[in-house]
Amino acid sequence: MNRETELSLIDELLALKANNAAFLDESVARNPTSHYACAERFGKEQKHIFRRVPIIAAHSSELDGPDAFITRGLSGLPVLITRDQSGQVHTFINVCRHRGTRLVDDLEGCKHRFSCPYHAWTYDSTGDLIAAPHFEQGFGEEQKSKLGLSRLECVERYGFIWVLPAENVQLDLDVYLEGIDDDLESLSIDQMAIAECHTETRKANWKILVEGGIEAYHFRVAHRTTIGPHFENNLSSYRQFGPHLRSILPRTSMADLGSEAHDKWRLRDHANVLYTVFPTSQLLVQQDHIVWISQEPISVGETRLRLATLVPQCRLADEAHWKRNHAITTATLLEDFDIGESIQAGVGSGANDSMLFGRFEGALDKFNCTVDRYLNV
Ligand code: FES
Ligand SMILES: [Fe+2]
Repeated sequence: MNRETELSLIDELLALKANNAAFLDESVARNPTSHYACAERFGKEQKHIFRRVPIIAAHSSELDGPDAFITRGLSGLPVLITRDQSGQVHTFINVCRHRGTRLVDDLEGCKHRFSCPYHAWTYDSTGDLIAAPHFEQGFGEEQKSKLGLSRLECVERYGFIWVLPAENVQLDLDVYLEGIDDDLESLSIDQMAIAECHTETRKANWKILVEGGIEAYHFRVAHRTTIGPHFENNLSSYRQFGPHLRSILPRTSMADLGSEAHDKWRLRDHANVLYTVFPTSQLLVQQDHIVWISQEPISVGETRLRLATLVPQCRLADEAHWKRNHAITTATLLEDFDIGESIQAGVGSGANDSMLFGRFEGALDKFNCTVDRYLNV
């Protein structure tokens, strides 16, 4: 984000606060509750979103040298991500090309050969099949060169490894991130590392869990014993960049900026900046670190979540500080996830046929309109 934008976002929120006003959409919006509970619709989301757009699959530091590898699930698709001897990152479907056994069980490690636990077909870190017992005798007319691992397009950019979990779709990250790319660049996430991490699975639709972070209406209620008192009551703003969102959630300290010179203003000191990188990542930018919230939608009513506290590599040794920060953010987000599960149960009750988004909850409507746009192709 450039300096001019940073100042204008602060100005905008200070003016709203001064007028006891809110950042309002044109009108109230509704979203059918079936969108959170319909397995058929989830199947469409799988096909038209999770198998169609680039997903942030890992932070670069998770593959911290030649021969490092990790395995992940991307909305049900098992992937193996490797860094080869030259430092190049590759992503494959983590399935053996012989009879489909999961090739690698370990979540992470360091090796340049991957041997299938069933019949020992062996692949290198570039995905080539380099050995297979009795191959000539049993598979004579087949060619090893055509039996390399199924490859997915991936690119390393802005400190993350972006994977396109689809075949026959071109990965064009410049187009996909247009408008939000400068912000991502300026966060210097490539100079960061993961200090703390938390993973859990929740019985809630992925969209409910995204929605939970992009309004400040609930802060003083749901987070009254954690972060609520430190944030303005029901004050936030947002902007859309293609399918992505940037939300600004001001702390109460922002109100004091009015008496300070403009050149001292720094948004991150007085607000949480939350980037919703469509579809399944959110970057919660705080004063001196970033919490990367990533989701793996498992089914229409179940989502795996991972909270990773990204910190500047040069301050990684400050363990107690990061542990403390991670604990505060995790406690707050767990409050959101508890509510998310409660909403999912409410969806199932049939009490409401739609969700109601107030005018100050406009980001939720924009997010759902983006989902709709992808499904109506
Ligand atoms: S299934 Fe992998 S070697 Fe047979
Ligand atoms: Fe929250």
